[in-house]
Amino acid sequence: VSAHDPYFTRMQSALQRHGDGTPTVVLDLGRVRRNADRLRSLWPKRHAVRLAVKSLPCMPLLESLAAQLETTRFMVFHPAHLAPVFDRFPAADVLFGKPVPLRAVSLALDALSPSQQRSVRWLADDVSRVEALADLARTRGVTLSVALEIDVGLHRGGLAEPGALRALRQHFQGQGPLRFAGLMGYDGHLGRIPWPLQRIPRSHANSMQRYRAVKDALAAEGFALDETVVFNGGGSLSFMEYRESDPTDDLTVGSCLVKPAHFEDARLAELEPAAWIASPVLKRVDRFVAPDGEWLAPLASAVKGLRGPGVYLFGGRFGGAPVSPADLVANLALGDSANQALYQLDRGAPLAVDDWAFFRPDESEATLDRFAYAHAVDEDDSVARWPTLRC
Ligand SMILES: Cc1ncc(COP(=O)(O)O)c(C=O)c1O
Repeated sequence: VSAHDPYFTRMQSALQRHGDGTPTVVLDLGRVRRNADRLRSLWPKRHAVRLAVKSLPCMPLLESLAAQLETTRFMVFHPAHLAPVFDRFPAADVLFGKPVPLRAVSLALDALSPSQQRSVRWLADDVSRVEALADLARTRGVTLSVALEIDVGLHRGGLAEPGALRALRQHFQGQGPLRFAGLMGYDGHLGRIPWPLQRIPRSHANSMQRYRAVKDALAAEGFALDETVVFNGGGSLSFMEYRESDPTDDLTVGSCLVKPAHFEDARLAELEPAAWIASPVLKRVDRFVAPDGEWLAPLASAVKGLRGPGVYLFGGRFGGAPVSPADLVANLALGDSANQALYQLDRGAPLAVDDWAFFRPDESEATLDRFAYAHAVDEDDSVARWPTLRC
Protein backbone atom coordinates (compact mmCIF):
# COMPACT_ATOMS: atom_id res chain seq x y z
CA VAL A 1 0.00 0.00 0.00
CA SER A 2 1.17 3.49 -0.74
CA ALA A 3 1.03 6.33 1.76
CA HIS A 4 0.40 8.66 -1.19
CA ASP A 5 -2.34 9.38 -3.68
CA PRO A 6 -1.70 8.18 -7.26
CA TYR A 7 0.05 11.44 -8.21
CA PHE A 8 2.66 11.29 -5.45
CA THR A 9 2.90 7.51 -5.69
CA ARG A 10 4.09 8.12 -9.24
CA MET A 11 6.62 10.72 -8.07
CA GLN A 12 7.81 8.43 -5.29
CA SER A 13 8.31 5.56 -7.68
CA ALA A 14 10.31 7.85 -10.00
CA LEU A 15 12.61 8.70 -7.09
CA GLN A 16 12.88 5.11 -5.94
CA ARG A 17 14.02 4.19 -9.45
CA HIS A 18 16.17 7.24 -10.27
CA GLY A 19 16.86 9.21 -7.08
CA ASP A 20 20.16 8.99 -5.26
CA GLY A 21 18.62 8.55 -1.83
CA THR A 22 19.10 12.17 -0.81
CA PRO A 23 16.66 15.09 -0.69
CA THR A 24 15.91 16.63 -4.06
CA VAL A 25 13.51 18.71 -6.07
CA VAL A 26 11.01 16.97 -8.29
CA LEU A 27 9.84 18.84 -11.37
CA ASP A 28 6.62 17.73 -13.04
CA LEU A 29 7.43 18.47 -16.67
CA GLY A 30 3.91 17.89 -17.95
CA ARG A 31 2.67 20.56 -15.59
CA VAL A 32 5.56 22.91 -16.39
CA ARG A 33 4.65 22.69 -20.08
CA ARG A 34 0.95 23.21 -19.43
CA ASN A 35 1.78 26.17 -17.17
CA ALA A 36 3.83 27.72 -19.97
CA ASP A 37 0.92 27.18 -22.39
CA ARG A 38 -1.49 28.86 -19.99
CA LEU A 39 0.97 31.68 -19.42
CA ARG A 40 0.96 32.29 -23.16
CA SER A 41 -2.81 32.49 -23.21
CA LEU A 42 -2.73 35.14 -20.44
CA TRP A 43 0.22 37.01 -21.97
CA PRO A 44 -0.34 40.62 -23.08
CA LYS A 45 0.17 41.43 -26.74
CA ARG A 46 3.29 43.27 -27.89
CA HIS A 47 5.34 42.14 -24.89
CA ALA A 48 8.38 39.86 -24.94
CA VAL A 49 8.87 37.14 -22.31
CA ARG A 50 11.95 37.40 -20.11
CA LEU A 51 12.71 34.51 -17.74
CA ALA A 52 13.80 35.24 -14.15
CA VAL A 53 16.82 33.00 -13.66
CA LYS A 54 16.81 33.14 -9.84
CA SER A 55 13.24 31.84 -9.76
CA LEU A 56 13.97 28.89 -12.08
CA PRO A 57 17.56 28.14 -11.08
CA CYS A 58 18.17 25.11 -13.26
CA MET A 59 19.58 25.46 -16.79
CA PRO A 60 17.74 22.52 -18.41
CA LEU A 61 14.47 23.86 -16.97
CA LEU A 62 15.25 27.32 -18.36
CA GLU A 63 16.16 25.74 -21.70
CA SER A 64 12.92 23.88 -21.95
CA LEU A 65 10.85 26.96 -21.05
CA ALA A 66 12.87 29.25 -23.30
CA ALA A 67 12.22 26.89 -26.23
CA GLN A 68 8.52 26.64 -25.52
CA LEU A 69 8.07 30.37 -24.91
CA GLU A 70 10.38 31.22 -27.82
CA THR A 71 12.59 33.59 -25.90
CA THR A 72 16.28 34.09 -25.27
CA ARG A 73 15.75 36.96 -22.86
CA PHE A 74 16.79 36.40 -19.26
CA MET A 75 16.79 38.43 -16.09
CA VAL A 76 19.83 37.64 -13.97
CA PHE A 77 20.27 38.54 -10.30
CA HIS A 78 23.70 37.09 -9.59
CA PRO A 79 26.88 37.47 -11.67
CA ALA A 80 27.56 33.75 -11.18
CA HIS A 81 24.56 33.03 -13.41
CA LEU A 82 26.00 34.84 -16.42
CA ALA A 83 28.36 32.07 -17.53
CA PRO A 84 25.81 29.23 -17.45
CA VAL A 85 23.27 31.35 -19.31
CA PHE A 86 25.74 32.31 -22.05
CA ASP A 87 27.04 28.74 -22.30
CA ARG A 88 23.59 27.49 -23.27
CA PHE A 89 22.32 30.65 -24.96
CA PRO A 90 25.19 32.34 -26.81
CA ALA A 91 22.73 34.93 -28.14
CA ALA A 92 21.04 35.61 -24.79
CA ASP A 93 19.78 39.09 -24.00
CA VAL A 94 20.53 39.49 -20.29
CA LEU A 95 19.10 42.19 -18.09
CA PHE A 96 20.21 42.53 -14.49
CA GLY A 97 17.27 42.58 -12.07
CA LYS A 98 19.13 44.54 -9.43
CA PRO A 99 22.12 46.83 -9.26
CA VAL A 100 25.25 44.99 -8.12
CA PRO A 101 28.44 46.37 -6.56
CA LEU A 102 31.01 47.75 -8.98
CA ARG A 103 33.51 45.14 -7.90
CA ALA A 104 31.07 42.41 -8.99
CA VAL A 105 30.55 44.14 -12.36
CA SER A 106 34.27 44.39 -12.88
CA LEU A 107 34.95 40.75 -12.04
CA ALA A 108 32.05 39.64 -14.23
CA LEU A 109 33.42 41.65 -17.17
CA ASP A 110 36.81 39.93 -16.77
CA ALA A 111 35.09 36.61 -17.40
CA LEU A 112 32.92 37.66 -20.37
CA SER A 113 33.88 37.75 -24.03
CA PRO A 114 33.49 41.12 -25.82
CA SER A 115 30.25 40.03 -27.48
CA GLN A 116 28.86 38.74 -24.18
CA GLN A 117 29.80 42.04 -22.57
CA ARG A 118 27.62 43.75 -25.15
CA SER A 119 24.70 41.42 -24.38
CA VAL A 120 24.46 42.32 -20.70
CA ARG A 121 22.29 45.21 -19.60
CA TRP A 122 23.63 46.30 -16.21
CA LEU A 123 21.22 48.04 -13.91
CA ALA A 124 21.70 51.44 -12.28
CA ASP A 125 19.29 52.85 -9.74
CA ASP A 126 20.77 56.30 -9.14
CA VAL A 127 23.29 58.92 -10.26
CA SER A 128 26.22 57.58 -8.28
CA ARG A 129 25.87 54.12 -9.76
CA VAL A 130 25.63 55.51 -13.28
CA GLU A 131 28.76 57.56 -12.65
CA ALA A 132 30.60 54.56 -11.22
CA LEU A 133 29.67 52.44 -14.25
CA ALA A 134 30.76 55.25 -16.57
CA ASP A 135 34.15 55.44 -14.81
CA LEU A 136 34.56 51.69 -15.01
CA ALA A 137 33.74 51.69 -18.72
CA ARG A 138 36.26 54.49 -19.36
CA THR A 139 38.97 52.74 -17.37
CA ARG A 140 38.44 49.52 -19.27
CA GLY A 141 38.01 51.26 -22.61
CA VAL A 142 34.67 49.60 -23.28
CA THR A 143 31.06 50.65 -23.74
CA LEU A 144 28.65 49.28 -21.16
CA SER A 145 24.92 48.85 -21.70
CA VAL A 146 23.06 50.22 -18.73
CA ALA A 147 19.35 50.11 -18.00
CA LEU A 148 17.81 52.37 -15.39
CA GLU A 149 15.72 51.06 -12.54
CA ILE A 150 12.63 53.14 -11.97
CA ASP A 151 10.31 53.13 -8.99
CA VAL A 152 6.80 52.34 -10.18
CA GLY A 153 5.39 51.92 -6.68
CA LEU A 154 7.33 49.13 -4.96
CA HIS A 155 9.67 51.73 -3.40
CA ARG A 156 12.62 49.36 -3.43
CA GLY A 157 14.77 51.95 -5.14
CA GLY A 158 15.22 53.40 -8.59
CA LEU A 159 14.46 56.76 -10.14
CA ALA A 160 11.24 58.12 -8.73
CA GLU A 161 10.53 60.90 -11.24
CA PRO A 162 11.36 61.98 -14.76
CA GLY A 163 13.45 64.94 -13.53
CA ALA A 164 16.06 62.47 -12.23
CA LEU A 165 17.04 61.69 -15.84
CA ARG A 166 18.64 65.07 -16.38
CA ALA A 167 21.58 64.37 -14.09
CA LEU A 168 22.30 61.11 -15.94
CA ARG A 169 22.00 61.99 -19.58
CA GLN A 170 25.56 63.21 -20.16
CA HIS A 171 26.87 59.67 -19.57
CA PHE A 172 24.66 58.24 -22.28
CA GLN A 173 25.14 60.91 -24.92
CA GLY A 174 27.31 60.98 -28.00
CA GLN A 175 30.62 59.24 -27.42
CA GLY A 176 29.83 58.69 -23.72
CA PRO A 177 30.94 55.37 -22.21
CA LEU A 178 27.43 54.08 -21.54
CA ARG A 179 24.79 52.90 -23.97
CA PHE A 180 21.23 53.40 -22.81
CA ALA A 181 19.67 49.93 -22.59
CA GLY A 182 16.18 50.66 -21.28
CA LEU A 183 14.09 50.92 -18.17
CA MET A 184 13.24 48.33 -15.53
CA GLY A 185 10.24 49.03 -13.31
CA TYR A 186 9.27 46.09 -11.14
CA ASP A 187 5.81 46.05 -9.59
CA GLY A 188 6.46 43.32 -7.02
CA HIS A 189 3.98 44.94 -4.65
CA LEU A 190 1.08 44.17 -6.96
CA GLY A 191 -0.78 41.15 -5.66
CA ARG A 192 1.14 41.23 -2.39
CA ILE A 193 -0.94 43.85 -0.57
CA PRO A 194 -3.34 42.19 1.93
CA TRP A 195 -6.61 41.56 0.11
CA PRO A 196 -8.88 44.01 1.95
CA LEU A 197 -6.59 46.81 0.78
CA GLN A 198 -5.84 45.38 -2.62
CA ARG A 199 -6.88 47.43 -5.68
CA ILE A 200 -5.06 45.68 -8.46
CA PRO A 201 -6.35 47.59 -11.53
CA ARG A 202 -5.79 50.91 -9.82
CA SER A 203 -2.34 49.92 -8.60
CA HIS A 204 -1.38 48.80 -12.11
CA ALA A 205 -2.69 52.02 -13.61
CA ASN A 206 -0.61 54.02 -11.11
CA SER A 207 2.52 52.03 -11.97
CA MET A 208 1.98 52.58 -15.68
CA GLN A 209 1.45 56.28 -15.14
CA ARG A 210 4.80 56.53 -13.34
CA TYR A 211 6.42 54.39 -16.03
CA ARG A 212 5.04 56.46 -18.88
CA ALA A 213 6.17 59.72 -17.27
CA VAL A 214 9.79 58.56 -17.19
CA LYS A 215 9.60 56.95 -20.61
CA ASP A 216 8.15 60.08 -22.19
CA ALA A 217 10.91 62.18 -20.65
CA LEU A 218 13.68 60.06 -22.18
CA ALA A 219 13.46 61.49 -25.67
CA ALA A 220 13.07 65.02 -24.35
CA GLU A 221 16.24 64.55 -22.28
CA GLY A 222 18.20 63.37 -25.28
CA PHE A 223 18.53 59.64 -24.58
CA ALA A 224 19.19 57.60 -27.72
CA LEU A 225 16.20 55.30 -28.17
CA ASP A 226 17.17 52.72 -30.76
CA GLU A 227 15.36 49.44 -31.32
CA THR A 228 17.55 47.57 -28.82
CA VAL A 229 16.18 49.53 -25.87
CA VAL A 230 13.81 47.51 -23.63
CA PHE A 231 11.04 48.67 -21.34
CA ASN A 232 10.86 45.93 -18.76
CA GLY A 233 8.31 45.38 -16.03
CA GLY A 234 6.18 42.73 -14.48
CA GLY A 235 6.49 39.61 -12.46
CA SER A 236 4.52 36.44 -11.80
CA LEU A 237 1.71 38.24 -9.99
CA SER A 238 1.37 41.16 -12.39
CA PHE A 239 2.16 40.11 -15.98
CA MET A 240 -1.52 39.42 -16.71
CA GLU A 241 -2.47 43.00 -15.83
CA TYR A 242 -0.45 44.53 -18.68
CA ARG A 243 -2.16 45.80 -21.81
CA GLU A 244 -1.00 46.34 -25.33
CA SER A 245 -1.21 50.09 -24.75
CA ASP A 246 1.09 50.08 -21.69
CA PRO A 247 4.51 51.76 -22.02
CA THR A 248 6.31 48.44 -21.41
CA ASP A 249 7.38 45.90 -24.03
CA ASP A 250 9.22 43.23 -22.02
CA LEU A 251 7.97 41.40 -18.91
CA THR A 252 9.84 39.12 -16.54
CA VAL A 253 8.33 35.94 -15.09
CA GLY A 254 9.72 32.94 -13.32
CA SER A 255 8.06 31.61 -10.20
CA CYS A 256 4.55 31.16 -11.58
CA LEU A 257 5.80 28.56 -14.08
CA VAL A 258 6.40 26.15 -11.19
CA LYS A 259 3.92 27.89 -8.87
CA PRO A 260 5.30 27.59 -5.35
CA ALA A 261 2.91 28.22 -2.44
CA HIS A 262 3.50 31.99 -2.25
CA PHE A 263 2.11 32.26 -5.78
CA GLU A 264 -1.34 30.88 -4.98
CA ASP A 265 -3.47 33.62 -6.51
CA ALA A 266 -6.90 33.58 -8.13
CA ARG A 267 -5.42 35.15 -11.27
CA LEU A 268 -3.08 32.16 -11.62
CA ALA A 269 -5.83 29.60 -10.91
CA GLU A 270 -5.18 27.79 -14.19
CA LEU A 271 -1.53 27.16 -13.40
CA GLU A 272 -0.58 24.16 -11.28
CA PRO A 273 2.18 23.55 -8.74
CA ALA A 274 4.97 21.79 -10.62
CA ALA A 275 7.91 21.64 -8.19
CA TRP A 276 8.12 19.56 -5.03
CA ILE A 277 10.79 18.99 -2.44
CA ALA A 278 11.21 15.31 -1.70
CA SER A 279 13.04 13.64 1.15
CA PRO A 280 13.51 9.95 1.96
CA VAL A 281 12.35 8.45 5.24
CA LEU A 282 15.30 7.27 7.37
CA LYS A 283 13.44 5.84 10.36
CA ARG A 284 9.89 5.16 11.44
CA VAL A 285 8.83 5.16 15.10
CA ASP A 286 5.49 3.97 16.50
CA ARG A 287 4.93 7.01 18.59
CA PHE A 288 6.71 10.12 19.80
CA VAL A 289 8.44 9.78 23.16
CA ALA A 290 9.73 13.12 24.39
CA PRO A 291 13.39 13.00 25.42
CA ASP A 292 13.44 12.87 29.23
CA GLY A 293 9.71 13.34 29.14
CA GLU A 294 7.76 10.13 29.57
CA TRP A 295 5.30 12.24 31.57
CA LEU A 296 4.31 13.89 28.29
CA ALA A 297 2.98 10.63 26.88
CA PRO A 298 -0.70 11.12 27.74
CA LEU A 299 -0.56 14.62 26.29
CA ALA A 300 1.26 13.48 23.17
CA SER A 301 -1.59 11.27 22.05
CA ALA A 302 -3.96 14.24 22.13
CA VAL A 303 -1.89 16.88 20.37
CA LYS A 304 -1.45 17.27 16.65
CA GLY A 305 2.29 17.45 15.97
CA LEU A 306 2.98 14.95 18.76
CA ARG A 307 0.48 12.15 18.15
CA GLY A 308 0.58 9.33 15.63
CA PRO A 309 3.57 7.37 14.36
CA GLY A 310 6.61 9.43 13.39
CA VAL A 311 9.20 9.47 10.60
CA TYR A 312 12.69 10.91 10.68
CA LEU A 313 13.51 12.40 7.29
CA PHE A 314 16.79 12.98 5.51
CA GLY A 315 17.27 16.67 6.24
CA GLY A 316 14.70 19.23 7.22
CA ARG A 317 13.87 22.95 7.15
CA PHE A 318 12.88 22.44 3.57
CA GLY A 319 11.34 25.87 2.99
CA GLY A 320 7.88 24.52 2.37
CA ALA A 321 4.86 22.80 3.85
CA PRO A 322 4.32 19.03 3.82
CA VAL A 323 1.85 17.89 1.15
CA SER A 324 2.14 14.12 1.00
CA PRO A 325 1.30 11.93 2.84
CA ALA A 326 -1.65 14.18 3.56
CA ASP A 327 -1.38 13.77 7.34
CA LEU A 328 2.30 14.68 7.59
CA VAL A 329 2.95 17.33 10.24
CA ALA A 330 6.20 18.60 11.77
CA ASN A 331 6.81 17.32 15.28
CA LEU A 332 6.42 20.23 17.68
CA ALA A 333 9.66 19.41 19.50
CA LEU A 334 11.98 17.86 16.91
CA GLY A 335 10.46 18.98 13.62
CA ASP A 336 12.83 21.88 13.07
CA SER A 337 16.07 19.97 12.52
CA ALA A 338 17.97 20.56 9.28
CA ASN A 339 19.59 17.16 9.71
CA GLN A 340 16.87 14.64 10.67
CA ALA A 341 13.55 16.38 11.08
CA LEU A 342 10.82 14.40 12.80
CA TYR A 343 7.37 14.44 11.24
CA GLN A 344 4.27 12.86 12.75
CA LEU A 345 1.81 10.88 10.66
CA ASP A 346 -1.25 12.19 12.39
CA ARG A 347 -3.62 9.58 11.01
CA GLY A 348 -0.99 6.86 10.73
CA ALA A 349 -0.28 6.80 6.98
CA PRO A 350 1.78 3.73 5.97
CA LEU A 351 4.92 5.72 5.12
CA ALA A 352 7.89 3.37 5.48
CA VAL A 353 11.68 3.62 5.55
CA ASP A 354 12.93 4.44 2.02
CA ASP A 355 9.56 5.89 1.05
CA TRP A 356 9.58 9.59 0.25
CA ALA A 357 7.84 12.57 1.84
CA PHE A 358 6.84 15.55 -0.32
CA PHE A 359 6.73 19.25 0.44
CA ARG A 360 5.42 22.17 -1.57
CA PRO A 361 8.07 24.89 -1.56
CA ASP A 362 7.01 28.38 -0.47
CA GLU A 363 9.25 29.86 -3.16
CA SER A 364 11.19 28.42 -6.07
CA GLU A 365 13.86 31.10 -5.70
CA ALA A 366 16.60 30.04 -3.26
CA THR A 367 14.86 26.69 -2.82
CA LEU A 368 15.45 24.64 -5.96
CA ASP A 369 19.12 25.53 -5.76
CA ARG A 370 19.48 24.23 -2.21
CA PHE A 371 19.72 20.80 -3.81
CA ALA A 372 22.43 19.84 -6.26
CA TYR A 373 19.95 18.19 -8.64
CA ALA A 374 16.33 18.37 -9.62
CA HIS A 375 14.64 15.21 -10.85
CA ALA A 376 12.53 16.05 -13.85
CA VAL A 377 9.68 13.56 -14.25
CA ASP A 378 8.10 13.56 -17.69
CA GLU A 379 4.66 12.43 -18.77
CA ASP A 380 6.01 9.08 -19.98
CA ASP A 381 7.52 8.58 -16.50
CA SER A 382 11.06 9.04 -17.77
CA VAL A 383 13.26 10.85 -15.26
CA ALA A 384 16.15 13.21 -15.99
CA ARG A 385 18.62 14.42 -13.39
CA TRP A 386 19.08 18.14 -13.89
CA PRO A 387 21.79 20.11 -12.10
CA THR A 388 20.59 23.25 -10.36
CA LEU A 389 22.32 26.62 -10.53
CA ARG A 390 24.13 27.05 -7.25
CA CYS A 391 26.32 30.03 -6.51
C1 LIG B 1 13.24 42.95 -10.87
C2 LIG B 1 12.36 41.75 -10.86
N1 LIG B 1 11.60 41.49 -11.93
C3 LIG B 1 10.80 40.42 -11.96
C4 LIG B 1 10.72 39.54 -10.91
C5 LIG B 1 9.73 38.43 -11.02
O1 LIG B 1 10.12 37.16 -10.68
P1 LIG B 1 9.00 36.09 -10.40
O2 LIG B 1 8.15 35.99 -11.62
O3 LIG B 1 9.75 34.84 -10.13
O4 LIG B 1 8.22 36.55 -9.22
C6 LIG B 1 11.49 39.78 -9.77
C7 LIG B 1 11.42 38.89 -8.61
O5 LIG B 1 11.89 39.15 -7.52
C8 LIG B 1 12.33 40.93 -9.74
O6 LIG B 1 13.09 41.21 -8.66
